[in-house]
Amino acid sequence: MKKLTVNAKTKNYDITIKEGLIAEILDYLQQDKKKFLITNNTLEKLYPDLVSSFENKIVIKDGEEYKNFETFEFIINELLKRKIERKDLILALGGGVVGDLAGFAAASVLRGVNFVQIPTTLLSQVDSSVGGKTGFNTKYGKNLIGAFYQPESVLIDTNFLKTLPVREIKTGLGEVVKYSFIEKNCSDDEKIHLSKYLDEADSNNLDFKEIIYRSVALKASVVSKDEKEAGLRAVLNFGHTFAHSIETITNYKKFTHGEAVAMGMKLAFELSYNLNFINKEYLDYAFNLIDKFNLAPVYKIECDKDEYINIMKSDKKVSNSKIRLVLPTSKGEVKIFDNIKEDDIKKVL
Ligand SMILES: NC(=O)c1ccc[n+]([C@@H]2O[C@H](COP(=O)([O-])OP(=O)(O)OC[C@H]3O[C@@H](n4cnc5c(N)ncnc54)[C@H](O)[C@@H]3O)[C@@H](O)[C@H]2O)c1
Ligand SMILES: [Zn+2]
Repeated sequence: MKKLTVNAKTKNYDITIKEGLIAEILDYLQQDKKKFLITNNTLEKLYPDLVSSFENKIVIKDGEEYKNFETFEFIINELLKRKIERKDLILALGGGVVGDLAGFAAASVLRGVNFVQIPTTLLSQVDSSVGGKTGFNTKYGKNLIGAFYQPESVLIDTNFLKTLPVREIKTGLGEVVKYSFIEKNCSDDEKIHLSKYLDEADSNNLDFKEIIYRSVALKASVVSKDEKEAGLRAVLNFGHTFAHSIETITNYKKFTHGEAVAMGMKLAFELSYNLNFINKEYLDYAFNLIDKFNLAPVYKIECDKDEYINIMKSDKKVSNSKIRLVLPTSKGEVKIFDNIKEDDIKKVL
């Protein structure tokens, strides 16, 4: 078992990582607090015993397209209909979609009810369950409605990964590799750094407990220093401004989020190299690491470059309509730039 603590300004909470933690989750149910499980229909089918052991369960439809106001309203109405009280507990069992929606429902209902994240995808285990970003999508863009609301705890059972499709594992690995490229910004503690570990890892036989631990520790370190993205937390968006355009242009259908991030990181590395921020050796290293885990199916897409740039500008992380880019500057380190010329960006697209 591995345990770590997130010390956010608004709350301190534990993250527990363990193979077989589900059994303990079931024990946890024996406690007297009234609980509301929020999950989706795929997990309900895959884990019927776990889901049916909850008297109060709210099952939503599976898919990013259901991460919307309608589903949020459905969850809130179910909670209120079943007379949730402020002392009760909401459990989010699922990937990032369930976690983000359930988290925002917990933040909103009765002005805040405690909630526990039980992430079941690699992406949610290494990323979305930690840090307290919650919310849903609107027709104007992804994650535009929401709140920062930290969970009471995060329970990570690596056994959930056994039923996860390979492509979903890879999308999580996209974020894991991202952490390795920003590890020095996140923490000086080499024991939680990922790059050396990933360099030596056998890509067909990964120790997920270790990978998740290091990823979460790196993210927790950033969140502890900058919970609400006033500065440092932006480094977590490495690869994401490009990814946002790639996902939008391809209607979120062609690539998974992690694939788009891996493609975005390659573009960021190429741009950094063109601008002389990094040398050829580091550029090659980065491409090889991304390819070792087979994360980016391609990295340039056929598209109108002006459209690509316009979407980059519409990213909500943009400040004063300038494109804000997180670019690598040395091994394991990135910097945030607001002044990269559009022509230089276009050259790598
Ligand atoms: N809050 C944050 O900080 C943050 C960070 C990154 C991403 N996100 C959000 O997370 C979402 C993506 O999360 P995701 O990649 O987990 O997607 P997801 O929640 O859609 O899950 C992916 C698929 O895997 C299925 N699934 C989940 N657990 C499974 C299991 N154990 N076995 C088999 N199938 C399983 C789901 O039903 C779904 O079909 C996006 O909406 C994104 O905006 C949030
Ligand atoms: Zn991401």
